[in-house]
Amino acid sequence: MFKNGDGYELVARQGAGAYLAGTTTGSVRLGNTKLGIFQPFAPYPRSHAASNWLGLPNISHAEVAKRLSLLERINNCPIGVSVSASPQESEHIALEELTTGMALYEKAGVDFIELNESCPNIPGHFGEKCTTMLDENLIRRCEYVSQTFLGKRKRRLPVIVKFSNDTHPSLVPLLIDMLLALGFDGVNFGNTSTAYQAHSDQIVHSEKKLYEYFTKNFGGGLSGKLLKNSSLTLCKQACEYLSGIEAKGEFHVIRTGGVEEPLDIIASERAGISLNQWYTGYFENFAQFGNSVYEKMYDSILTELHTSPLANTPK
Ligand SMILES: Cc1cc2nc3c(=O)[nH]c(=O)nc-3n(C[C@H](O)[C@H](O)[C@H](O)COP(=O)(O)O)c2cc1C
Repeated sequence: MFKNGDGYELVARQGAGAYLAGTTTGSVRLGNTKLGIFQPFAPYPRSHAASNWLGLPNISHAEVAKRLSLLERINNCPIGVSVSASPQESEHIALEELTTGMALYEKAGVDFIELNESCPNIPGHFGEKCTTMLDENLIRRCEYVSQTFLGKRKRRLPVIVKFSNDTHPSLVPLLIDMLLALGFDGVNFGNTSTAYQAHSDQIVHSEKKLYEYFTKNFGGGLSGKLLKNSSLTLCKQACEYLSGIEAKGEFHVIRTGGVEEPLDIIASERAGISLNQWYTGYFENFAQFGNSVYEKMYDSILTELHTSPLANTPK
């Protein structure tokens, strides 16, 4: 959520387990404008959800790498960055810029990199349209990153890939096999959804008109509670698949989408998912608890574990 590398000290002091800047691209992007609206966004607070069609606004890999390199570390809050190939460039230039950017972040001292392959607000990213086969362009991009960056890393720097929450479950094993074969270190499910029709029922009546206006005029990505099930299902499937194969080294499964309350973290834990990211849920909780946002979450998880039947589940 901190596209240009702001906010690290704030979230680290609030108690976040990690920080993620970006998504950044090779050149500066202003983001989308349509119907006179700059970086369109609509919250649906009563539905615990939101729509955005920002279009990856950012000040570039090089500028954000500079900023991250200057950050003073706070204990137990590693710094990650999300990167993407520039949609406005030819594939050749976009990929070259992407891996040059990743090398800049390596030099800047970041602790992990997330390759964003799933922004619905720019052309060319991977989404729900593919159901049974991996997209050829995705494979080519991942192979390029593997050959040009992963194999040349000068230190232990995990690189994970973020896919859409609209990913068809049948693709999970194929994606994991590809990532493992190419030397990636993890997978994140995932990014926002464009399944407007399918999620429409989860928007409360009073917010329906806004939802329909936004999705019809801007499209964009849906976030929040309506992604809770898909993020859990996809990540659970990823964990189950990984437990049945012999992966060498570490491979991390990260859940993003609809994480907003203690029971979500407990459900992740039970499914073997040890890392969770949040965006919409963070703001919901921040609105209620301010800077105690993580303290409140951690306390509530402990309370839940002591009072609910889940407490007896092996962790
Ligand atoms: C306003 C907004 C901007 C976002 N920008 C990015 C981005 O730059 N890169 C990215 O990978 N995901 C981006 N996302 C997606 C979130 O990181 C997350 O994957 C998605 O919102 C689902 O999680 P949530 O339900 O916790 O919000 C954005 C989401 C929102 C709401």
